[in-house]
Amino acid sequence: KTNRTFTMIKPDAVAAGHIGAILDKITKSGFKIIALKYTALSTEKAGQFYEVHSERPFYNDLVSFMSSGPIVAAILEKDNAVADFRTLIGATDPSKAEAGTIRQLFAQSIQANAVHGSDSDENAEIEGSFFFSAFEKF
Ligand code: CMP
Repeated sequence: KTNRTFTMIKPDAVAAGHIGAILDKITKSGFKIIALKYTALSTEKAGQFYEVHSERPFYNDLVSFMSSGPIVAAILEKDNAVADFRTLIGATDPSKAEAGTIRQLFAQSIQANAVHGSDSDENAEIEGSFFFSAFEKF
């Protein structure tokens, strides 16, 4: 069934010049871009976005990393978008990511792992709405 997921190209991958290569891989893998934005997260906004992880030991580091530089946010559409996108990006820890996945190709560490991908349809909707209004989705 056609559905949507949400992604961010994280500060590490933006800083390393990988925006174009990552978007190319995403579109060549059959995802349609519904919304796209080059922006940055303040520490406050990053803290809100990752609120679900607020009790985790890596939360403070994650918030400072995610607000350390510009990011690219996007809503993507495809059959089975959430699961297929997680397959395309690979494991959270890039040393465990399969060959050819975005994280295996472009990530540096478990924190600086190049991209985010929503883990459920419900979170895809919440995360997409965090960045985009109805007028920014096409
Ligand atoms: P993501 O899946 O986008 O959302 C949660 C993020 O927290 C994850 O990517 C990593 O960037 C980060 N993260 C997850 N697990 C760890 C960990 N064990 N140590 C540090 N950062 C982590």
